[in-house]
Amino acid sequence: MNIVLGITGGIAAYKTPDLIRRLRERGADVQIVMTASAGEFVTETALQAVSGRPIRSNLWDREAEASMSHIELARWADVVLIAPATAEIMARLASGAAADLLTTLVLATEAPVAIAPAMNRVMWSNPAVQANRALLEERGVAILGPGRGSQACGETGAGRMLEPDELADIVTGPGFAPGETGGALSGKTVVITAGPTREPIDPVRYLTNRSSGKMGYALATAAARAGARVVLISGPVDLAPPRGVETRSVLSAADMHRATHDVISDADVFIASAAVADYRPVTAADKKIKKTGETMTLEMVRTPDILASVAALPDAPFTVGFAAETDNLLGYARGKLENKSLDMIVANCVRDGKAFDVDDNAVEVLWADGQQSFPTTGKSALAGELVDLIASRYEATRGTGTEPRLSIIRLNDQT
Ligand code: C5P
Repeated sequence: MNIVLGITGGIAAYKTPDLIRRLRERGADVQIVMTASAGEFVTETALQAVSGRPIRSNLWDREAEASMSHIELARWADVVLIAPATAEIMARLASGAAADLLTTLVLATEAPVAIAPAMNRVMWSNPAVQANRALLEERGVAILGPGRGSQACGETGAGRMLEPDELADIVTGPGFAPGETGGALSGKTVVITAGPTREPIDPVRYLTNRSSGKMGYALATAAARAGARVVLISGPVDLAPPRGVETRSVLSAADMHRATHDVISDADVFIASAAVADYRPVTAADKKIKKTGETMTLEMVRTPDILASVAALPDAPFTVGFAAETDNLLGYARGKLENKSLDMIVANCVRDGKAFDVDDNAVEVLWADGQQSFPTTGKSALAGELVDLIASRYEATRGTGTEPRLSIIRLNDQT
């Protein structure tokens, strides 16, 4: 695995020679790219000695560019890890800046990008830093940590860089780079619906809902990281297509139904995280409807239930639904699990502005004979945990775990 390790100017940079050794112990080739301020905390001599490669730090270094240009370096990388990542680099990555080698390389790479933030706990909790974290996460950057504990500044709290061993385990671990073999969903195809749908009323108006698509996009990224081929069927959202995922854009529930059934025969797992409109206007007027009376009535008709239609297929994939409810969350969720014949349902409370169009979420996951709670966390971290659970339930019910069940059925047939 080729890893570009970006080092920025935080005190935790003193741990990077150890990080490089841990990465190399796990078989990775490591190319260091330093920002100017990283050199205040760790020397080029030390980094070069442990990485065994000349250090890159300057976009305008003609000799280094001639041997491997920054674009070639961006292509060479299987993973770009920035550790430590300061508040400054997070802001520059979020803004799309490209004034130095590291930021230019991040824009130019198709490899997964991970950052390990490290800063004082008050800086980490600053709303500007958190907004940048959320934006980067939304664009598919993996945010590793930070951990909690005592800090170099003498304070205690969240902001410590994860330990070198832990970082090395994550980025060289199975499934971190999309398409890597050995991930929990390696060799599987996962189809995911995400976002709202738009149901046209006339050429200028439509009915929709508050879904942002963030949860579905985070699931797509997490499933790709777990080694799956991922097809994301997305309603209209304001998010960049996740890296390494085939994204198909649709507008209405009918479009989403069609696009899903176009690909569903390939799917091992189907995750319906879209907030599909339940009803659409019976007809979409071809001219703008003029205001006339004091009231107006719109006649509506049910849209196709995409999730139920997939779960009812003779060779249905492992199906995961979402239930967004304001009340009786678990009761309604279990009802949907049973009525729609799902393998699993993720129950979201959407009362008081929760879950929709926000960055954090807390869910309860239910299946026929089990249940697991996931407390409030960022949607990206939550997506990783949900994908792990889906992979293990898939394995238990459809993987090699199905064989004993089949033999019991045969035995019963014979007796
Ligand atoms: O029945 P309800 O709409 O509450 O079920 C929610 C689940 O069903 C979600 O997983 C949603 O994506 C899916 N759904 C669907 N097609 C519809 C309505 C809901 O796939 N028309």
